[in-house]
This record gives sequence, C-alpha cells and structure tokens, in this order.
Amino acid sequence: MTLADTLTNQEKLAGLGLAELEQLVGLVAYDDTSDPFPVTGWDAVVWAVGNATQTAHFFQSAFGMELVAYSGPETGNRDHHSYVLRSGGVRFVIKGGVAPDSEIIAHHARHGDGVVDIALEVPDVDRCIKHARAQGATVLEEPHDVSDEHGTVRIAAIATYGKTRHTLVDRSGYEGPYLPGYVTRTSTLKKPEGAPKRLFQALDHVVGNVELGKMDEWVDFYGRVMGFTNMAEFIGDDIATDYSALMSKVVANGNHRVKFPLNEPAIAKKKSQIDEYLEFYQGPGAQHLALATGDILTTVDALRDAGIEFLNTPDSYYEDPELRARIGEVRVPIEELQKRGILVDRDEDGYLLQIFTKPIGDRPTVFFELIERHGSLGFGKGNFKALFEAIEREQELRGNF
Ligand SMILES: [Fe+2]
Repeated sequence: MTLADTLTNQEKLAGLGLAELEQLVGLVAYDDTSDPFPVTGWDAVVWAVGNATQTAHFFQSAFGMELVAYSGPETGNRDHHSYVLRSGGVRFVIKGGVAPDSEIIAHHARHGDGVVDIALEVPDVDRCIKHARAQGATVLEEPHDVSDEHGTVRIAAIATYGKTRHTLVDRSGYEGPYLPGYVTRTSTLKKPEGAPKRLFQALDHVVGNVELGKMDEWVDFYGRVMGFTNMAEFIGDDIATDYSALMSKVVANGNHRVKFPLNEPAIAKKKSQIDEYLEFYQGPGAQHLALATGDILTTVDALRDAGIEFLNTPDSYYEDPELRARIGEVRVPIEELQKRGILVDRDEDGYLLQIFTKPIGDRPTVFFELIERHGSLGFGKGNFKALFEAIEREQELRGNF
C-alpha cells in the first residue's frame, strides 16, 4: 500500500492531504503489510443521545459541522433518527430513538448522551476479525456485506470498554453518503457571516475512562487485539492534584492517526474526576474527543460566540514565571491565549495549544478538547495539573467533590 492510499474516505472527501494531517494530528508513514490488524483511520464517532434532532442541530450551529446524510422513519428506519455530520476528516453520527422500545432509548436512559461506537476504517475487515478472535476479543458482529445502489461496504464489530464498540468498516467499494440505508441530506442552516469554512479538520484522539485497576488490561487489549503501541505514559504524580488523581496511558495505531488515551482513577483524598464520570455514565466510556484545528484562536472565538463554554484557566497559569520559561516562544502572544483560556505545553518535539469544553450534555461525562499541534506529539502532560484544578472547581460547584 502506498502512503497516498492511507487517506480515509472522509479525509479524501474533505480534500485533506498527508502533510496537513502530519501537522494536525502527528500522522506518520507506516507500512502495514505485516500488521495483523491494520487500521487506516477513524471512520465515524457514533453517539446515542436523548434528542438526535436537536443534538444534530447543536453540532451544526455551534461546532460548524455539515449535515450530509440521514436515516429515519422517512427512509424506512422506524427505530431511530440518525444524522451524519462532518467537519474535515471527522464524521459524527448522531442517533436518537423513535420507537419506544428502541435500544437507543434504553442506552440513553442508563448512560445519558454519549459515544457508543468509535468506528474505524480498515482495509481488510476479515483479517482484523480473524486476529481479534484469536486474541480473545468479543466479536459483536461477524464480517458481512451491506449493499445498495452506491456499492458495498464490508462491516464487522468488536467490543471495547463498557458498552462501547469498534465497528470496522471497509468502504473501498462504496460511494454513498454514509452507509446503505442512509440518504443524502443537507440543512438550511446558514453559517454566520465571515465564519470559517470549518472549525476543526481532524479527530486527534478519543479518551476512554475505565475502572480502577483496569487501565493496564485495556492497554493490553489494544496491543494484543489491535496491534496498537504505547505512545506515552503518565502515572501518579504527573496528573495528581492534592485531592484528585488519575493514571493514564496512551495507545496508537501504526500511522498514529488513531490515538486512545486510557484513564483510570487513582486513589486521592477526594473523588477523582474519573470516578465522577464512571458514576454518572454508569460505567466506562469515552470521556473526551480532541478535535484538531490549524487555528485554535479562531475556532475558540467561533465556539464561544456560539455559546460553547470552556473550562476556565486561572490567570496565575499565565503569570507563573516557571510556565513562561517552560513554554518559550509560541506563534501568538501569551495574552491572546490568556484572553481565551488556551493552555500551552511543550516537549522535545515542539509545542501544542489546547483547551477543554465543559461537559456538553446534562451529565458530567463527555466533553471536547480543541488542539493545535506544532510538532509536539504529546497530550498536554504539563497542563494536567492546571487543568485538573480547573475541573475540580467545576466538580465542586456540582457538589461531587
Ligand atoms: Fe486530550
């Protein structure tokens, strides 16, 4: 396989190039010939929510995503609504139950709004499933073809943490707007005057929260079953404040497009933010999705204008001489970052700018990160303490600390 073949279907549609992705998400060249579970990249993030019609509007009106496809009662799907949205190489599928006995309604009643499927694009579904099964993975859907007038998609699914799954999709023989059963759909929503074409270009990473003592099991799962390798490791003190702590390890696929940090709570004086998530999501699940942008200032301004709330960063963060010395020169004056609460981290490869939203649903569970990379392949380790102190202030306001 040549490097150009490693663009995902959605990246090709968005006109993204390999050099751009290298900058945005740290994509690396990778030869997958001997990989038993080759993964090209993200296919879609599938959400189960309480009101897909309104959530789909939210992702368009606030996050600037574009509606491209739909399935629902009008198309013969009497069980649920499903809206397919895109921004650059990112595809979200928002599902909400219609039939009272829909599984999506039951899922939502227990977990609230959340990610049910982190679907991955793979060149060979059968090869992946053969390996996954041999490694003891739970196969939720056997490889099978789904076809319509646009062609054929080959699909299978395996279970990961909690109720989350990885659907594996080979869409090389398919030209439709998403999957068979979906029709093209656009929206009448108009972007504000002067709004950028898109607010984010790519998905950088999706973090999973798992139970105390389970992080290493899932790191092992991704290594053994999916051939992912460890990227970075933060333990104990790295991410501990006086009261709340967590442990985190990061695994990535061969080309580093798909990165999964895995968190577990660590023992501390007060309830960890991971414990709060596990309690309110009723188990393990996706904690945050990091959206990559080439211009985080414009993105954050647009999101704030649309009413998105971010975690506050204390002024002391920017005024701390140690931090100033550590981060050195970045592409914008630090005052511009401070004004927006954007965090900076630097390592031996470069630096990154990042900021975190508040939870986007009613429960204190899933939220977003915006990230602009400048060579750094890290995840903001140096910011964890500052960030967690900010999260704890929010947790305290909710009475869960
Ligand atoms: Fe992150």
